[in-house]
Amino acid sequence: VSFAHGAAGDEPPLVRVRPAGPRSAELAARLAELECPAFGHRREQRARASGAEMTPIVLTRAVGSNVHDADDNRYVDLVAGFGAVVLGHGAAPIARAVAEQAGRLVQGLGDVYASDTKLALLERLARLGPGPRTRVLLGQSGADALTAAIKTAALVTGRAGIVAFEGAYHGLGYAPLAACGLRESYRAPFAAQLNPTVRYAPYPRDEADVSRALDAVEAALRPGDVGAVIVEPILGRGGCVVPPPGFLAALRGAAHRAGALLVADEVWTGVGRSGAMAYAASIGVEADVLCLGKALGGGLPISACLASEAIMGAWAREAEVVHTSTHAGAPLACAAAVATLDAVTGEGLAARAAEVGARFQARLRAALAGAAAVVDVRGAGLMIGVELASGATALAAGRAMLERGYLVLGGGTRGEVLTLTPPLTIAEPLLDAAADALAESLRDLAPA
Ligand SMILES: Cc1ncc(COP(=O)(O)O)c(C=O)c1O
Repeated sequence: VSFAHGAAGDEPPLVRVRPAGPRSAELAARLAELECPAFGHRREQRARASGAEMTPIVLTRAVGSNVHDADDNRYVDLVAGFGAVVLGHGAAPIARAVAEQAGRLVQGLGDVYASDTKLALLERLARLGPGPRTRVLLGQSGADALTAAIKTAALVTGRAGIVAFEGAYHGLGYAPLAACGLRESYRAPFAAQLNPTVRYAPYPRDEADVSRALDAVEAALRPGDVGAVIVEPILGRGGCVVPPPGFLAALRGAAHRAGALLVADEVWTGVGRSGAMAYAASIGVEADVLCLGKALGGGLPISACLASEAIMGAWAREAEVVHTSTHAGAPLACAAAVATLDAVTGEGLAARAAEVGARFQARLRAALAGAAAVVDVRGAGLMIGVELASGATALAAGRAMLERGYLVLGGGTRGEVLTLTPPLTIAEPLLDAAADALAESLRDLAPA
């Protein structure tokens, strides 16, 4: 894990051919013939909405904070696998751990005969989780972790109801999809198959919103059928919204008074990304159930649902209740997670994310001052949102950044936010240059 600018993996962009170049375009066209149109269709809509070319690049290799496409353009990665690649691409500790594990045991027998590597991971996770005596349920995706949390709350409380937030995203498996406040369109075609007892409250953006949000939560809790209040301690896909101080503590109080569990979805914020291993706990609010994913595997698929022994004890029943899957706790992903947790804690990467992220935000604010399209710059750690005037502007700005050699992602309920989640190891000069590149991209988009 290196922080040196100019070293392999920390190099500036090198755009040899305007993306998408011919090789990427050819591969993308072939992909479109084979893949379910869910993705390609969305791209066509985006091209229409923004007027920007949306042919995707196809990635072929990556190292550190650099990603290469099929035309050998070199990009600076400000997305990092949707926030997962916290140590950078091909990080040595993960590569070593995975190679060692692959050489000795690729697959265990999950909940029947586990691997020693799974135990090593659970020992580390138990230090992060809500105590006392944290118990862990592993999964492969964020949606898995949320599914485990939702089931746990139902077992503990005997209640099916959920309070969730507008703008929230917890994954698209059926259990968390029912609580997806980000877009109604994600749920609509499947509505008849989803938990009908989910109620939504607005997510507070500033102090003035807090009482309205808490009033909505209280009203949703009043019928007494709610087992889980599920919250992202920082709204991620909803646009990197950091709630005002006091909100999460008040939310926990409301949940507990109503006999519901507070589930913190730290799939995005956790494992250093927000500047903390678990953001809510870092500001003094310990949730009952904690969900981790994304960064946990450093790029490999693994997630975890953590809760105290008292809560997880609800799974121990006379009548057998099972929650398992073939690859949950599989040794390769566990080895990657052990290496990731050891590197993030051992190298102080959460603290680095907080410091570097604060400087990056300041740098963005300075570079973007006076840019008419910029509404807000916000976030915590290396999870930063730049809110623009509209979704169409954000799409065009994101494409302009790609053409300058930077990968960025859209976010926000209307796609109006550019979301920046680079590796936690990224060299700072790359972030300074990215801020300037964004300013130039927005200048070029603005009508003369
Ligand atoms: C906060 C949060 N929870 C859950 C998920 C779902 O994770 P996955 O896509 O791994 O299922 C995401 C994904 O973006 C997320 O941001």
